Amino acid sequence: MSTVDTLRESWATRTGFILAAVGSAVGLGNIWRFPFQVGQEGGAAFLLMYLFFILLIGLPAMLVEFTIGRRTNLNAVGALRKIGGRTWQYAGALFVFVGFVILSYYSVIGGWVLRYFTGSITGGYTADSEAYFFEIATGFDTLLFHAIFMAITVGIVALGIQKGIELAVKLMVPSIIAIMVGLAIYAVTLPGGAEGYTYYLSPDFDVLASDWQSIVPAAAGQAFFTLSLGMGVMITYASYLSTDRNLAEDSGVIIGFDTGIAILTGLIVFPILFAAGLDAADPGAGAIFIALAGAFAEIQYGLVLGVLFFGMFSIAALSSAISLLEVVVSFAVDEYGLQRPVATALIGGGIFILGVPVALVSDGGNPIVIDLYDILAAEILLITGGILVMVLMAWFNPNLAVTELSKGIGRLGILGSLWIWLVRIPVIVVLLISLGLALVGYYEFLVDEFIPFVRG
Ligand code: PHE
Repeated sequence: MSTVDTLRESWATRTGFILAAVGSAVGLGNIWRFPFQVGQEGGAAFLLMYLFFILLIGLPAMLVEFTIGRRTNLNAVGALRKIGGRTWQYAGALFVFVGFVILSYYSVIGGWVLRYFTGSITGGYTADSEAYFFEIATGFDTLLFHAIFMAITVGIVALGIQKGIELAVKLMVPSIIAIMVGLAIYAVTLPGGAEGYTYYLSPDFDVLASDWQSIVPAAAGQAFFTLSLGMGVMITYASYLSTDRNLAEDSGVIIGFDTGIAILTGLIVFPILFAAGLDAADPGAGAIFIALAGAFAEIQYGLVLGVLFFGMFSIAALSSAISLLEVVVSFAVDEYGLQRPVATALIGGGIFILGVPVALVSDGGNPIVIDLYDILAAEILLITGGILVMVLMAWFNPNLAVTELSKGIGRLGILGSLWIWLVRIPVIVVLLISLGLALVGYYEFLVDEFIPFVRG
């Protein structure tokens, strides 16, 4: 163990760490999941609930994960074992499992994004964007693009922390931000776009009152998913910190960027949809692809926008995918002493295989396995993982948590206790309620949709 410890890498710079965490947070969750949840779950009312959860749950949870990682300098499994004892390593094992599940469908969607990027260059989706989506959503070609996406992810992670992940995110994250801001400015100039802003920013509280059972777990799940919490990414990334930084400040910066980008995505997507005269509330995994490709085919300079948008989208998906893979790879490297390139290739291959049904099974063109994996991972497993780490730190190791957080900040005083108590009761209670509702929702999905589909 000690030889592995001394060889363990660390981030070269503070910016490297922050950019990696921002790169992990900003991804399909912001661009694919977020806008259409806003559309489906009551527009700005969902937005408010989501922002509330980001602050109430996201921030304290990120601090918990960061303190665990920096304290132990270990992968998620090793870190939980070191802090909580042997039984807690199974919570870490859950993280590794969730990393497998999420990346397996994340990569299939990442493959779609790459496909749309090439489609923008060739004009492939302009004729009929709906038909195009159903053509590429499942099938052998989908598998090919899934393989390409996984191969790029494996390539970056295999190069290690400084030469792989840190270098990649230094190029990727600034490009994402620059393109997003450019697109948002362009969207302001679109004739007919104003209605899009109204739709996006005017709350419908009736929907919140009547549908809270689905909105609460959706908003909590989205808060976890978008901040890459509940599965050890932030534990793992913080484990490569060598000196003591102000973790509260870093969390603020990371959350600020992630939330800013999610909000910006809405400011791009909704005006573009309305300018092209499309229905924004049309739900489903394919919605953003069909709607945006349709819009890009309609509006002036649409294909140039398509190249920029899907190019940016591919980069954002990749910078998150590398963090998912890193959780599993760091586990294999720390715990079993495997060589990083070997571990990365083997694990990447395993995840690719788990994604095969996602890429191939279609319910009349609809990639139904995505829902099976996504609801399970984002609404059930991430929240479970979140509850576990919060119990471990806030209930069983509060002094350690406060001491670790105060490094690089100074005495926390009352704020330290406030953080611990916020996590101990309100955060854990909200998460338990969300988990309960999500379990009911998933059961309904299985009984009403998935099982009838499997039976044919
Ligand atoms: N945060 C990423 C996104 O929004 C997804 C992700 C979830 C990455 C969990 C890592 C862990 O796309």
